[in-house]
Amino acid sequence: MSTEKFISETAKSLRDETFVKMTLGNYKGSDGQLQKLLIRLVETRKGARLFFLYRYQTRDIAKNYSLDEGLHILSELLGKDFHSGHLFTTTKDFQLAIGKRGVHLNVGKPTFAVKPKLEHDREKKILIDPNSFYLKALGITTDHGAIRDKQQDKWKQINKFVEILGGLFDQSSLKEKHDFNIVDMGSGKGYLTFAAYDYFKNVSGMDVNVTGIDTNPNLVELCSSIAKAGEFENLLFMEGSIGDADITDVDILIALHACDTATDDALFKGISADAEIIIAAPCCHKEIRPQIKPPKMFKDILKHGIMLERTAETITDGLRALLLERSGYAVKLFEFVATEHTPKNNMIVGTRIEKAVASEKVNSQIQSIKEFYGIKKQRLENLLQP
Ligand SMILES: C[S@@+](CC[C@H](N)C(=O)[O-])C[C@H]1O[C@@H](n2cnc3c(N)ncnc32)[C@H](O)[C@@H]1O
Repeated sequence: MSTEKFISETAKSLRDETFVKMTLGNYKGSDGQLQKLLIRLVETRKGARLFFLYRYQTRDIAKNYSLDEGLHILSELLGKDFHSGHLFTTTKDFQLAIGKRGVHLNVGKPTFAVKPKLEHDREKKILIDPNSFYLKALGITTDHGAIRDKQQDKWKQINKFVEILGGLFDQSSLKEKHDFNIVDMGSGKGYLTFAAYDYFKNVSGMDVNVTGIDTNPNLVELCSSIAKAGEFENLLFMEGSIGDADITDVDILIALHACDTATDDALFKGISADAEIIIAAPCCHKEIRPQIKPPKMFKDILKHGIMLERTAETITDGLRALLLERSGYAVKLFEFVATEHTPKNNMIVGTRIEKAVASEKVNSQIQSIKEFYGIKKQRLENLLQP
């Protein structure tokens, strides 16, 4: 009886527009990994939908359903798989506990006085709307669109990234194209991939195809399910390695925090595909560090690990910038976000130019630097060798 009441109160809150969110817990079903189910209301092109985030031990899966479908699934899950439910509405909170000795429904004062803003409530054109569905689904924002304390750095990064991306796009010839393709290599949990898609497609209303590529199948599955649940058309996530990715038609190539030489693989893919814009924020710089043989005059400086580390970073990203220039790109290397927000904060941006490049001069610069530090190989240089 109490379970039916819990479901009917959910249906009522959806009808009255007082529904805030719901959590199902105490899972006793057959999936050893599933822990919780978080349910929110989202607005999509098909209208209001119930967004289900299935929280597993090591991953999340997202799905969305019509309100009727969602209520039906809820009635099937409660008492069979999940044995507790917490419904938050703006008028009351309902807590359901299903135990061996009976079913109890506690009704209490509401935790939330106002219902969360839905994604479509956007009033003004802002680069990133904290009420965006994907930010909630990825756990950056709360149901009310507040940035979670622990996600403040990520939020700053996402905003800075979109600001940079939008600026580069506005100054490029892509502005004239009807549609264009973005590939995000090493897309991870997809924060920046979703943000790029949202910025071009939803905020700027452009025709864009975005593909995220990552070796981690769990992250690809999570991102795909959020993209599907949010009905983000032309946003795909694919499992695969950057080096093996078969991309030829790419206008903007993104590689943010791809590990070590994965950044070189991504830069190489961008250059080979003649991408108009290449944006990379390198991660660890492991390749060069063990190769450095400090020149005599730097011996007592580079004996300190931190100095060697920073030198390896400077040389690696400096060589990458020179190689991009040699490949026909105007390059800017700058601080992405301040070091207090992330230690991985170099950003290398290349914009394709038509001007002929003095490759011999660049080559001799590269060779002098390598000889000076005793460096034998650099991945991007090797990849670019004919
Ligand atoms: C530190 S995360 C960065 C994620 C995202 N780009 C960001 O900045 O938020 C690095 C991601 O790159 C992926 N990755 C590392 N090497 C890769 C490779 N060779 N090919 C594809 N993905 C790779 C990892 O699985 C991980 O998800």
